[in-house]
Amino acid sequence: MAGDNGAAGGARPRAYLTRALPEEARQVVAAACDLAEWNSESSPVPRDELLRAVHDADGVLTLLTDRVDEQFLDAAPKCRVVANMAVGYDNVDLEALTRRGVLLTNTPDVLTETTADLVWALMLATARRIVEGSDAIRANAWGAWSPMFLTGYDVYGSTLGLVGAGRIGTAVARRAQGFGMTLCYHNRNRVPALEAETGAEYRSFERLLRESDFIVCLVPLTEQTCGLFGAAEFAMMKPTAVFVNAARGPVVREADLVEALRRGRPWAAGLDVFEREPIGADHPLAALPNATIVPHLGSATVRTRTAMATLAARNLVAALTGGKPPNPVNRAANQAAQTSEGSKSR
Ligand code: DGY
Repeated sequence: MAGDNGAAGGARPRAYLTRALPEEARQVVAAACDLAEWNSESSPVPRDELLRAVHDADGVLTLLTDRVDEQFLDAAPKCRVVANMAVGYDNVDLEALTRRGVLLTNTPDVLTETTADLVWALMLATARRIVEGSDAIRANAWGAWSPMFLTGYDVYGSTLGLVGAGRIGTAVARRAQGFGMTLCYHNRNRVPALEAETGAEYRSFERLLRESDFIVCLVPLTEQTCGLFGAAEFAMMKPTAVFVNAARGPVVREADLVEALRRGRPWAAGLDVFEREPIGADHPLAALPNATIVPHLGSATVRTRTAMATLAARNLVAALTGGKPPNPVNRAANQAAQTSEGSKSR
Protein backbone atom coordinates (compact mmCIF):
# COMPACT_ATOMS: atom_id res chain seq x y z
CA MET A 1 0.00 0.00 0.00
CA ALA A 2 3.02 2.33 0.25
CA GLY A 3 2.63 4.88 -2.49
CA ASP A 4 -1.14 5.13 -1.95
CA ASN A 5 -0.32 6.91 1.22
CA GLY A 6 0.42 10.61 1.37
CA ALA A 7 3.41 10.51 3.68
CA ALA A 8 5.00 7.60 1.85
CA GLY A 9 4.24 8.56 -1.73
CA GLY A 10 4.69 12.35 -1.65
CA ALA A 11 0.98 13.04 -2.29
CA ARG A 12 -0.92 14.91 0.40
CA PRO A 13 -2.49 12.62 3.00
CA ARG A 14 -6.26 12.46 3.14
CA ALA A 15 -7.96 13.59 6.32
CA TYR A 16 -11.60 13.37 7.33
CA LEU A 17 -13.11 15.63 10.02
CA THR A 18 -16.30 14.28 11.55
CA ARG A 19 -17.64 17.75 12.44
CA ALA A 20 -17.28 21.35 11.24
CA LEU A 21 -14.46 22.75 13.37
CA PRO A 22 -13.36 26.28 14.26
CA GLU A 23 -11.62 27.75 11.19
CA GLU A 24 -8.28 28.00 13.00
CA ALA A 25 -8.24 24.21 13.52
CA ARG A 26 -9.58 23.46 10.06
CA GLN A 27 -6.76 25.50 8.54
CA VAL A 28 -4.14 23.42 10.36
CA VAL A 29 -5.46 20.32 8.60
CA ALA A 30 -6.15 22.01 5.26
CA ALA A 31 -2.57 23.29 5.08
CA ALA A 32 -1.15 19.76 5.11
CA CYS A 33 -3.89 17.40 3.94
CA ASP A 34 -6.60 16.89 1.38
CA LEU A 35 -9.60 17.50 3.49
CA ALA A 36 -13.11 16.07 3.60
CA GLU A 37 -15.47 16.92 6.42
CA TRP A 38 -19.00 16.58 7.76
CA ASN A 39 -20.32 20.04 7.30
CA SER A 40 -22.34 20.57 10.47
CA GLU A 41 -21.18 22.02 13.76
CA SER A 42 -24.16 20.84 15.78
CA SER A 43 -25.18 17.44 14.34
CA PRO A 44 -22.94 14.40 14.42
CA VAL A 45 -22.26 12.70 11.12
CA PRO A 46 -24.77 9.83 10.65
CA ARG A 47 -23.13 6.44 11.09
CA ASP A 48 -23.68 5.29 7.48
CA GLU A 49 -22.20 8.50 6.14
CA LEU A 50 -19.23 8.23 8.50
CA LEU A 51 -18.46 4.67 7.43
CA ARG A 52 -18.67 5.71 3.77
CA ALA A 53 -16.63 8.89 4.24
CA VAL A 54 -13.64 7.32 6.01
CA HIS A 55 -13.00 4.77 3.27
CA ASP A 56 -10.08 6.68 1.74
CA ALA A 57 -8.96 8.56 4.83
CA ASP A 58 -5.38 8.24 6.09
CA GLY A 59 -6.45 9.92 9.31
CA VAL A 60 -9.71 10.92 10.98
CA LEU A 61 -10.41 13.68 13.49
CA THR A 62 -13.23 12.45 15.73
CA LEU A 63 -15.42 13.76 18.54
CA LEU A 64 -16.75 11.95 21.59
CA THR A 65 -20.04 11.48 19.71
CA ASP A 66 -18.33 9.18 17.16
CA ARG A 67 -17.99 5.50 17.95
CA VAL A 68 -14.56 4.30 16.80
CA ASP A 69 -14.74 0.51 16.86
CA GLU A 70 -13.96 -2.54 14.73
CA GLN A 71 -16.69 -1.59 12.27
CA PHE A 72 -15.19 1.89 11.88
CA LEU A 73 -11.72 0.43 11.39
CA ASP A 74 -12.99 -2.06 8.81
CA ALA A 75 -14.54 0.85 6.93
CA ALA A 76 -11.31 2.87 7.10
CA PRO A 77 -8.63 0.46 5.80
CA LYS A 78 -6.03 3.20 5.23
CA CYS A 79 -6.52 5.00 8.52
CA ARG A 80 -3.30 5.41 10.52
CA VAL A 81 -4.43 7.91 13.11
CA VAL A 82 -7.59 8.79 15.00
CA ALA A 83 -7.27 12.22 16.60
CA ASN A 84 -10.02 12.50 19.21
CA MET A 85 -11.04 16.05 20.18
CA ALA A 86 -11.42 15.27 23.88
CA VAL A 87 -9.25 14.23 26.76
CA GLY A 88 -11.51 11.20 27.35
CA TYR A 89 -11.55 8.44 24.75
CA ASP A 90 -14.15 5.98 25.98
CA ASN A 91 -15.80 6.36 22.54
CA VAL A 92 -12.78 4.57 21.08
CA ASP A 93 -11.95 0.85 21.18
CA LEU A 94 -8.32 1.46 22.09
CA GLU A 95 -7.44 -2.21 22.09
CA ALA A 96 -8.70 -2.61 18.51
CA LEU A 97 -6.78 0.45 17.32
CA THR A 98 -3.58 -0.71 18.95
CA ARG A 99 -3.93 -4.21 17.53
CA ARG A 100 -4.24 -2.71 14.06
CA GLY A 101 -1.37 -0.28 14.56
CA VAL A 102 -3.63 2.78 14.44
CA LEU A 103 -2.50 5.69 16.58
CA LEU A 104 -4.96 7.37 18.94
CA THR A 105 -4.35 10.91 20.17
CA ASN A 106 -6.37 13.02 22.61
CA THR A 107 -6.40 16.62 23.87
CA PRO A 108 -5.28 16.80 27.50
CA ASP A 109 -4.09 19.90 29.40
CA VAL A 110 -5.79 22.57 27.29
CA LEU A 111 -9.13 21.94 29.00
CA THR A 112 -7.98 21.39 32.57
CA GLU A 113 -8.68 24.81 34.10
CA THR A 114 -11.89 25.35 32.13
CA THR A 115 -13.29 22.03 33.29
CA ALA A 116 -12.24 22.72 36.89
CA ASP A 117 -14.17 26.02 36.66
CA LEU A 118 -17.27 24.12 35.55
CA VAL A 119 -16.94 21.71 38.47
CA TRP A 120 -16.90 24.70 40.77
CA ALA A 121 -19.86 26.26 38.98
CA LEU A 122 -21.81 23.05 39.66
CA MET A 123 -20.69 22.87 43.28
CA LEU A 124 -21.71 26.46 43.98
CA ALA A 125 -24.90 26.45 41.91
CA THR A 126 -26.09 23.19 43.47
CA ALA A 127 -25.20 23.98 47.08
CA ARG A 128 -26.68 27.49 46.87
CA ARG A 129 -29.71 26.54 44.76
CA ILE A 130 -28.95 29.09 42.07
CA VAL A 131 -31.04 27.47 39.33
CA GLU A 132 -34.00 26.95 41.67
CA GLY A 133 -33.77 30.61 42.68
CA SER A 134 -33.67 31.80 39.10
CA ASP A 135 -36.60 29.52 38.19
CA ALA A 136 -38.57 30.83 41.19
CA ILE A 137 -38.33 34.40 39.92
CA ARG A 138 -39.31 33.38 36.41
CA ALA A 139 -42.30 31.48 37.83
CA ASN A 140 -43.34 34.50 39.97
CA ALA A 141 -42.77 32.30 43.02
CA TRP A 142 -40.69 34.75 45.07
CA GLY A 143 -43.17 35.79 47.73
CA ALA A 144 -41.01 37.73 50.18
CA TRP A 145 -37.60 37.50 51.78
CA SER A 146 -38.06 34.71 54.33
CA PRO A 147 -35.65 33.30 56.89
CA MET A 148 -35.34 29.84 55.36
CA PHE A 149 -36.39 30.42 51.73
CA LEU A 150 -34.16 28.40 49.34
CA THR A 151 -31.51 27.85 51.96
CA GLY A 152 -28.64 25.64 50.86
CA TYR A 153 -25.31 24.53 52.31
CA ASP A 154 -22.03 26.38 52.72
CA VAL A 155 -19.17 25.66 50.38
CA TYR A 156 -16.68 27.70 52.39
CA GLY A 157 -15.14 25.68 55.19
CA SER A 158 -16.67 22.36 54.18
CA THR A 159 -15.00 19.06 53.18
CA LEU A 160 -14.34 18.27 49.53
CA GLY A 161 -13.78 14.66 48.51
CA LEU A 162 -12.31 14.13 45.05
CA VAL A 163 -12.80 10.76 43.40
CA GLY A 164 -10.14 10.83 40.71
CA ALA A 165 -7.13 13.04 41.22
CA GLY A 166 -5.64 13.66 37.82
CA ARG A 167 -5.01 17.02 36.20
CA ILE A 168 -8.58 18.29 36.54
CA GLY A 169 -8.94 16.99 40.09
CA THR A 170 -5.75 18.80 41.05
CA ALA A 171 -7.04 22.03 39.49
CA VAL A 172 -10.31 21.65 41.43
CA ALA A 173 -8.33 21.08 44.63
CA ARG A 174 -6.28 24.26 44.11
CA ARG A 175 -9.45 26.33 43.91
CA ALA A 176 -10.72 24.68 47.12
CA GLN A 177 -7.88 26.26 49.06
CA GLY A 178 -9.41 29.69 48.51
CA PHE A 179 -12.64 28.37 50.03
CA GLY A 180 -10.97 27.16 53.22
CA MET A 181 -12.01 23.58 52.52
CA THR A 182 -10.71 20.39 54.05
CA LEU A 183 -9.55 18.25 51.16
CA CYS A 184 -9.48 14.51 50.71
CA TYR A 185 -9.21 12.31 47.66
CA HIS A 186 -9.46 8.77 46.41
CA ASN A 187 -7.52 7.61 43.38
CA ARG A 188 -6.04 4.42 41.90
CA ASN A 189 -2.67 5.58 43.24
CA ARG A 190 -1.71 8.12 45.80
CA VAL A 191 -0.67 11.49 44.36
CA PRO A 192 2.14 12.89 46.54
CA ALA A 193 2.32 16.13 44.50
CA LEU A 194 -1.36 16.84 45.18
CA GLU A 195 -0.92 16.09 48.88
CA ALA A 196 2.14 18.35 49.11
CA GLU A 197 0.58 21.23 47.22
CA THR A 198 -2.93 21.26 48.69
CA GLY A 199 -2.73 19.23 51.89
CA ALA A 200 -5.27 16.77 50.46
CA GLU A 201 -5.43 13.53 52.44
CA TYR A 202 -5.84 10.13 50.86
CA ARG A 203 -8.99 8.24 51.89
CA SER A 204 -10.50 4.87 51.10
CA PHE A 205 -13.46 5.26 48.74
CA GLU A 206 -15.93 4.38 51.47
CA ARG A 207 -14.48 6.76 54.05
CA LEU A 208 -14.41 9.58 51.53
CA LEU A 209 -18.11 9.01 50.74
CA ARG A 210 -19.03 9.05 54.42
CA GLU A 211 -17.00 12.12 55.41
CA SER A 212 -17.30 14.54 52.49
CA ASP A 213 -19.75 17.40 52.11
CA PHE A 214 -18.98 17.61 48.38
CA ILE A 215 -18.14 14.46 46.44
CA VAL A 216 -16.73 15.27 43.01
CA CYS A 217 -16.31 12.49 40.48
CA LEU A 218 -13.55 12.96 37.90
CA VAL A 219 -12.47 9.43 37.03
CA PRO A 220 -12.11 8.28 33.42
CA LEU A 221 -14.71 5.77 32.22
CA THR A 222 -13.14 2.31 32.17
CA GLU A 223 -14.35 -1.22 32.87
CA GLN A 224 -13.32 -0.63 36.50
CA THR A 225 -15.15 2.68 36.95
CA CYS A 226 -18.35 1.87 35.03
CA GLY A 227 -21.19 1.92 37.60
CA LEU A 228 -18.84 3.03 40.40
CA PHE A 229 -21.58 5.11 42.06
CA GLY A 230 -24.81 3.22 42.76
CA ALA A 231 -27.44 2.84 45.49
CA ALA A 232 -24.95 1.54 48.09
CA GLU A 233 -22.54 4.44 47.51
CA PHE A 234 -25.28 7.10 47.62
CA ALA A 235 -26.59 5.58 50.87
CA MET A 236 -23.15 6.12 52.44
CA MET A 237 -23.17 9.84 51.71
CA LYS A 238 -24.26 12.42 54.26
CA PRO A 239 -27.89 13.52 53.95
CA THR A 240 -26.49 17.01 53.36
CA ALA A 241 -23.95 15.95 50.72
CA VAL A 242 -23.68 17.38 47.23
CA PHE A 243 -22.58 14.94 44.54
CA VAL A 244 -20.98 16.30 41.36
CA ASN A 245 -20.22 14.29 38.23
CA ALA A 246 -18.11 15.92 35.52
CA ALA A 247 -16.46 12.70 34.33
CA ARG A 248 -18.64 10.41 32.21
CA GLY A 249 -22.28 9.45 32.72
CA PRO A 250 -21.88 5.67 32.93
CA VAL A 251 -19.64 6.02 36.00
CA VAL A 252 -22.96 6.55 37.78
CA ARG A 253 -25.90 4.17 37.82
CA GLU A 254 -28.33 6.86 36.85
CA ALA A 255 -31.55 5.10 37.92
CA ASP A 256 -30.00 4.69 41.39
CA LEU A 257 -29.06 8.36 41.48
CA VAL A 258 -32.58 9.43 40.55
CA GLU A 259 -33.97 7.27 43.35
CA ALA A 260 -31.36 8.54 45.81
CA LEU A 261 -32.11 12.18 44.98
CA ARG A 262 -35.85 11.53 45.39
CA ARG A 263 -35.11 10.21 48.88
CA GLY A 264 -32.79 13.13 49.58
CA ARG A 265 -29.49 11.33 50.12
CA PRO A 266 -27.35 12.84 48.71
CA TRP A 267 -29.10 16.13 49.31
CA ALA A 268 -28.43 17.31 45.75
CA ALA A 269 -26.38 16.63 42.64
CA GLY A 270 -24.67 18.75 39.99
CA LEU A 271 -24.30 16.84 36.75
CA ASP A 272 -22.50 17.67 33.52
CA VAL A 273 -22.65 14.16 32.04
CA PHE A 274 -25.29 11.48 31.62
CA GLU A 275 -25.58 7.78 30.91
CA ARG A 276 -26.95 8.38 27.38
CA GLU A 277 -26.43 11.84 25.93
CA PRO A 278 -28.18 14.01 24.96
CA ILE A 279 -31.02 14.07 27.47
CA GLY A 280 -34.11 16.28 27.36
CA ALA A 281 -37.01 17.54 29.44
CA ASP A 282 -38.53 14.06 29.68
CA HIS A 283 -35.52 12.66 31.55
CA PRO A 284 -36.29 11.79 35.22
CA LEU A 285 -33.43 14.01 36.42
CA ALA A 286 -35.05 17.02 34.76
CA ALA A 287 -38.01 16.69 37.12
CA LEU A 288 -35.87 16.85 40.26
CA PRO A 289 -35.31 20.31 41.77
CA ASN A 290 -32.25 19.00 43.63
CA ALA A 291 -30.48 18.08 40.38
CA THR A 292 -28.53 20.84 38.66
CA ILE A 293 -28.10 19.54 35.13
CA VAL A 294 -26.05 21.01 32.29
CA PRO A 295 -25.37 19.58 28.82
CA HIS A 296 -21.74 18.33 28.94
CA LEU A 297 -20.27 21.82 29.17
CA GLY A 298 -17.05 21.02 31.07
CA SER A 299 -14.68 22.39 28.45
CA ALA A 300 -17.17 24.72 26.77
CA THR A 301 -15.46 28.08 26.47
CA VAL A 302 -14.58 29.64 23.13
CA ARG A 303 -10.89 29.61 23.95
CA THR A 304 -10.75 26.05 25.22
CA ARG A 305 -12.90 24.43 22.52
CA THR A 306 -10.81 26.24 19.89
CA ALA A 307 -7.62 25.03 21.60
CA MET A 308 -8.94 21.45 21.74
CA ALA A 309 -9.87 21.45 18.06
CA THR A 310 -6.53 22.96 17.09
CA LEU A 311 -4.60 20.48 19.22
CA ALA A 312 -6.53 17.57 17.70
CA ALA A 313 -5.72 18.98 14.25
CA ARG A 314 -2.02 19.26 15.13
CA ASN A 315 -1.99 15.67 16.40
CA LEU A 316 -3.63 14.48 13.18
CA VAL A 317 -1.29 16.38 10.89
CA ALA A 318 1.85 15.40 12.78
CA ALA A 319 0.94 11.73 12.62
CA LEU A 320 0.18 11.97 8.89
CA THR A 321 3.28 13.90 7.90
CA GLY A 322 5.98 12.03 9.82
CA GLY A 323 6.04 14.46 12.73
CA LYS A 324 5.74 13.82 16.44
CA PRO A 325 2.11 14.04 17.59
CA PRO A 326 1.95 16.00 20.86
CA ASN A 327 -0.53 13.64 22.56
CA PRO A 328 -0.20 9.98 21.57
CA VAL A 329 -2.35 7.67 23.70
CA ASN A 330 -1.00 4.35 22.37
CA ARG A 331 2.66 5.07 21.65
CA ALA A 332 3.40 1.59 20.33
CA ALA A 333 0.86 2.08 17.56
CA ASN A 334 2.47 5.43 16.77
CA GLN A 335 5.87 3.82 16.31
CA ALA A 336 4.32 1.10 14.13
CA ALA A 337 2.54 3.70 12.02
CA GLN A 338 5.72 5.73 11.58
CA THR A 339 7.97 2.81 10.64
CA SER A 340 5.52 1.08 8.29
CA GLU A 341 4.79 4.41 6.55
CA GLY A 342 1.22 3.34 6.12
CA SER A 343 1.99 0.00 4.49
CA LYS A 344 0.79 -2.07 7.40
CA SER A 345 -1.29 -5.14 6.76
CA ARG A 346 -4.30 -5.98 8.84
C1 DGY B 1 -13.40 15.51 27.28
O1 DGY B 1 -12.52 16.19 26.73
O2 DGY B 1 -13.25 14.33 27.51
C2 DGY B 1 -14.66 16.22 27.69
O3 DGY B 1 -15.65 15.42 28.15
C3 DGY B 1 -15.13 17.16 26.61
O4 DGY B 1 -14.36 18.27 26.84
